[in-house]
Amino acid sequence: MYGAPDTAAAERTAFRRAEKQYKLYKPPNPKGRSRSRRKPTGGDGGGGGDLSAVVDFHALLAADGELPAGIGRRDCAGFDRPVFCFLDRSGFYFIPGALSTEEQCYWIRESLKTFPQPPNRTNLTAMYGSISDLLIAAKNQKILVEVKNPDDQERNEQNNSGGKTQSKNFKFVEELEIQKGEVCSSTTASTLVRKLRWSTLGLQFDWSKRNYDVSLPHNNIPDPLASLAKKMAIPAMPSGEEFKPEAAIVNYYGPSDMLGGHVDDMEADWTKPIVSISLGSKCIFLLGGKTRDEVPTAMFLRSGDIVLMAGEAREHFHGVPRIFTESDEQEISALVSHLSGKDDQFILDYIKNSRININIRQVY
Ligand code: OGA
Ligand code: MN
Repeated sequence: MYGAPDTAAAERTAFRRAEKQYKLYKPPNPKGRSRSRRKPTGGDGGGGGDLSAVVDFHALLAADGELPAGIGRRDCAGFDRPVFCFLDRSGFYFIPGALSTEEQCYWIRESLKTFPQPPNRTNLTAMYGSISDLLIAAKNQKILVEVKNPDDQERNEQNNSGGKTQSKNFKFVEELEIQKGEVCSSTTASTLVRKLRWSTLGLQFDWSKRNYDVSLPHNNIPDPLASLAKKMAIPAMPSGEEFKPEAAIVNYYGPSDMLGGHVDDMEADWTKPIVSISLGSKCIFLLGGKTRDEVPTAMFLRSGDIVLMAGEAREHFHGVPRIFTESDEQEISALVSHLSGKDDQFILDYIKNSRININIRQVY
């Protein structure tokens, strides 16, 4: 599902070539740091220079003129925002600027504060067990320490409840509390926020089995997110039916992260859309066809944009080869000025260099 195979054959596909064309060139990392789920699909540099073929729906909306060949508008009863589509990619819809700046800030805060809370699992769960209040700990410059003594009374109280896969004990402490010899290993909470790669809401997705594990404890999708997804799903829904948000995957992208070409095929009913919300830094999204051999279309996704993939588009390869940070800060200037309060400093620093994607799914 996720990640392009690193074979010579994969190198030759049109999708792989497009990923290489757009990905960010970065000198080799001396520490050889690798990422968990989404591995960069090659370390040999790449282009990222020529962006002239990247479809920019915001520019098309602002120009309000004739649309380029192959791009159309979807007029949809009961939906009052502009919706774009590709004439040869049935079931894919693009809603530019679907969220106001206030709404974007709200969902960015939720993505960092609430969504990684247990019983939701994250990529950190396998390593550390359940971690509660990670964002608060990061704001307060706490440190997560592994506690040596397995009989430590505090060990299960805060951090490890429900952590099936881990036997170690971790807790947040103030730096000053660390006594020599007491602690095996430690990581700052803010480093851990940076290491967040995904969290799962609602029915929990099990990456090792590539399926939903209904036996895992879970909460329902939060009501405000469910309402938003239902409302935004309308242009892609079979008429008369209402979208049922049952699971969501939240992706957190740092400056050099990418998401390799894949198809999301673990949901039962492909007539229902995936509702995919972009927050923070701009990215390039590639939408291909049913095989990697079809040349994908590249488009910009910006904070507040929403993409829907339903029907045939559920079978289409897609991925994110590139996100734009630092140098493109003016792209998120509205967000930056909204996050200027003291309490938002940490979130502001985070989102300047990051992209968050919340994709909501009906599983059954
Ligand atoms: C996914 C996905 C796209 C994005 O998580 O399945 O395709 O915009 N995400 O990050
Ligand atoms: Mn996907």
